[in-house]
Amino acid sequence: MTSEAQAYSQTLGQEESIWFKISPFVNAADPMGILKRLCDKAGGCVPVSFRSERIYFLSEIDYMRHALVDNVDNYGKYFDGLKPIFGKAMITIDGALWQKVRQPQQPYFHPNVYASYMPHFMVALRNRLDQWSKLAQTGEPVDMLEQTWTLAADMVCRALFDREVPFNPHAVFGAVKAYTDASGHKSIRMKRVAGELSEVTEAEAPAQAIGAWLTLPEAVISAEPWQNREKTLLNVMLECAKDPSMFEWDHQQVLDELKQYLWAGTETTALTLGWSLFLLSQHPEVAEKIRREGEQIYGDREPNGDDIEKLSYTRSVVLETLRLYPPAWAFIRTALGDDTIAGHKIKAGDRIVMLPYLVHHSEKYWDRPEEFRPERFEPGSIKKRVKYSYLPFGAGKRFCVGGQMAQMETVLALSQLVRRFRAEWAGDGPPKIAASVTLLPKGGLPFRLRELS
Ligand code: HEM
Repeated sequence: MTSEAQAYSQTLGQEESIWFKISPFVNAADPMGILKRLCDKAGGCVPVSFRSERIYFLSEIDYMRHALVDNVDNYGKYFDGLKPIFGKAMITIDGALWQKVRQPQQPYFHPNVYASYMPHFMVALRNRLDQWSKLAQTGEPVDMLEQTWTLAADMVCRALFDREVPFNPHAVFGAVKAYTDASGHKSIRMKRVAGELSEVTEAEAPAQAIGAWLTLPEAVISAEPWQNREKTLLNVMLECAKDPSMFEWDHQQVLDELKQYLWAGTETTALTLGWSLFLLSQHPEVAEKIRREGEQIYGDREPNGDDIEKLSYTRSVVLETLRLYPPAWAFIRTALGDDTIAGHKIKAGDRIVMLPYLVHHSEKYWDRPEEFRPERFEPGSIKKRVKYSYLPFGAGKRFCVGGQMAQMETVLALSQLVRRFRAEWAGDGPPKIAASVTLLPKGGLPFRLRELS
C-alpha cells in the first residue's frame, strides 16, 4: 500500500465530512421520504446543526437557483471525504482556476464532436453485446451495474483517451464503490488505541481501493494508443501540462482530470442505463416501443450520430429515468460569504445540500411524480416545464460538461441492448435506494439476460 493511499485511508470518514454526517439520514430504510418530510415541514429549507457546523438542506427550486445561478460565486464546491477520488480535478475547484482548467477541455464536449465519437462507442457496445450473448447462454443472474459500468468505462476510454480500458473495471469500480459508500465510513475509520493511531481491520479495504485507484491514470497514459488519433482529450491535457504558459496545468492535474472522468463520467452513465433497464423490465410495452423505434430509424445497419438525434422515444425513456433516479441526487456547496436563503442567515462556512431528487419527485412540478411516464419528455415538452424543475445534470455554470455526451451514450446503448436482449429483473421486489454519493440500488441490480431471436 503506498503512503499516499495510507494517508487517504486515515482521513476517510472524518467526522467533518458531510457525507459522513448525513449518513444517519441516508442510511434509513426510506432516505428520500425522511428528507422530503423534513423539507416539506420547513418550507423547502431545513437548517441542521452538527456540532460547530450548520448544514442547510434545500428542496425548493428558487433556493437552488439562488445557489447554482443567481449567487453562484458565493457557493464553492464541496468535496471533503472524496478528495482521493478526484484530487483537484475541475469538478472540485472554483473561480479563475476552474475556468483555466475547463477551457481547453470544453471543445471535446461540444455537440459538434459527438458524431465523431460514435464509431468508438459502437466498438465498446459490440464488445458488451458479445459478452451479453455468452452471459445469456448461462442463464445465471448478472449484476447489471457491473455490466453497464464496464461499458461506460470502455466508451469513455476509447472516445476521449484513444485507449482500450487498461485495467479490470469490475475489480476497480467495486473497490471504489466501497470507498464512496458513506454508510461504510464509520466502520472503516481509524481508531485510537492507547494514544496511537492504529488501523482497524476493515480500514485496509478502502486504503487498498484507493491504492488501486491512484494507479489508474498512469495506466491510461502509458497504455498503447488504440488508433493513434492526434486530437483527443487526453492529448490536449498532456500538452497543457507541458506548456509553460499554462501554469495552472501540470502532470498531477492530468492525473486528477483522468480520475474525474473515470468516475464521474462512467458511474453516472452506468447507473442511468441500469435504472432504465430496471424500469423497462417492469414496463415491457416501453421496451417494445424502443425496439420498434430502432427498427424504423436505423434498421439493420449501424446507427450514426444523426440516427441518435431521431431516437426521440428512447431519449424520453432515458430522461424520465434520470428524473426518477437522478444519479447525482444531492449537490453540496460551502458558503464563501454571508447570505440569506428563505429568510435564514447563511454564514460563510455553512454547507448547502441541494436535493434535486426531491424536486424531480415533487407534485408541484410533476403530475403523478412517482409514475414512470416517458411521454413527459416528448419533443417540445421542455417549453411546458417549470424552469429548474429538472436538474439531473445540475444548473448554471457548473452544469455537467458531459451531459450531452452521456445522453448520446445512453440512448445509443439502450436502443441497441434492448433490440437484441430482454433483461429480466431477478431481484426480490423492486430495488431500494441507497443514497450514497450517487443514487445506488441497495444490493445491486440483478438481471437475467435473454437473447431475442
Ligand atoms: C447520466 C450521466 C451523468 C449525470 C447524471 C451527470 C451529472 C452531473 C452533475 C449533476 C454535475 C454537476 C454537479 C454539481 O453541480 O455539483 C456534473 C458535473 C460534471 N460532470 Fe457529469 N454527469 C453525467 C455524465 C458525465 C459524463 C459522461 C462526463 C464526462 C465524460 C461527465 C463529467 C462531468 C464533469 C467533468 C463535471 C464537472 C463540471 C464542472 O464543474 O465544470 N459527466 N455531472
